[in-house]
Amino acid sequence: MKLLVTGGAGFIGSNFIRYWLEKYPKDKITNLDKLTYAGRLETTEDFSKNKNYTFIKGDIGDLKTTLKATEGIEVVVNFAAESHNDRAIQDPGIFVRTNVLGTQILLEAAKRQNVKRFHHISTCEVFGELELNEKRAFKEEDPFRPRTPYNASKAAADHVVMAYYHTFGSPVTISHCSNNYGPYQFPEKIIPRFITNLIDNQKIPLYKSSQNRREWIYVDDHNEAVDIVIRKGKVGEMYSIGTGVEKSVEDIADSLLKIFGKPKSYKKYVPDRAGHDKRYLLSTKKIRSELGWKAKYEFDAYLEKTVEWYKENEWWWRPLKKEAEALYAKTGQK
Ligand code: NAD
Ligand code: DAU
Repeated sequence: MKLLVTGGAGFIGSNFIRYWLEKYPKDKITNLDKLTYAGRLETTEDFSKNKNYTFIKGDIGDLKTTLKATEGIEVVVNFAAESHNDRAIQDPGIFVRTNVLGTQILLEAAKRQNVKRFHHISTCEVFGELELNEKRAFKEEDPFRPRTPYNASKAAADHVVMAYYHTFGSPVTISHCSNNYGPYQFPEKIIPRFITNLIDNQKIPLYKSSQNRREWIYVDDHNEAVDIVIRKGKVGEMYSIGTGVEKSVEDIADSLLKIFGKPKSYKKYVPDRAGHDKRYLLSTKKIRSELGWKAKYEFDAYLEKTVEWYKENEWWWRPLKKEAEALYAKTGQK
């Protein structure tokens, strides 16, 4: 099989390529990535010399580039996006340009090149937020109710993907996943930010609404689910990928302090995120019953493995830490 992975120099996309090249060594993968602040060639270093791997530096929002990149491709997996809520508050425009317009251009190229499957990577955040005490989880058929510039751009992109399916018969699937953690995550996101602060013996900044919670999934679980959706999922369908493992900001902080053997005085409270969604939780009934997938990596064990990875790979994250913290110096969340 010949795949085009977009955003493969970022966190989840690079782990997807690593996973795929190992599991399907005969397949050929092209990675199209613009190399924004979040996309790094260092992140792809370990597989960059694989003979079945090709890299193209380019923007999914450029039709000439995407037409070339989709030539002879059977499956497109679209990870490329601006992915960080705090950055979307600073500059919403780039989120709409990449996540919405970029996705449309990529869909158009895939249509013209008769790509057999366009799999779009989306997020649980399109469904809006749940109350902390609410007794339900988001289902695939729930309406989209995004509340932040990032999740609005992801919801809009999903609508464009479905419009290509209904209008042009494009063979699309979409997956909505919960919060990922694991190696190569940019240190602007909560888990790598807290880990790298603790390695440097710095306090960890909890946003004021620190009882807000997220559903956590190890990145390889996400990528295995995407693999199954690509191979067994039904065209025109959406699938939710989650674990049911919910942790508040306080829980994440406490677990990491325990791993590092540091006291609670390492927690500090900083101003809240504007429009801070309280909670997301996905029902995974559909992917479990229709495709037979369920998450297998246990949270506490894989959080520890993630800490180990950051301890052993300072070469990777240290040059990025300054960029991440410059954002928070601007927002006052430092
Ligand atoms: P990331 O920010 O680590 O990586 C994004 C990658 O996309 C980078 O390599 C970047 O250079 C590239 N990119 C950005 N704009 C581009 C453009 N215009 N053209 C080509 N490449 C471009 O993001 P991530 O955390 O790996 O997320 C990947 C995808 O998964 C995103 O679509 C995100 O919305 C989705 N998602 C993420 C999570 C999570 O917890 N991180 C959860 C659910 C869904
Ligand atoms: O839910 C899926 C989404 O998960 C993905 O679509 C996004 O791409 C991904 O970035 C992530 O979004 P969040 O906004 O949930 O992730 P983040 O790590 O930024 O924040 C997680 C929680 O931690 C949130 O409640 C805010 C809080 N937080 C975050 C940071 C960076 C803090 O308390 N302190 C921090 O320093």
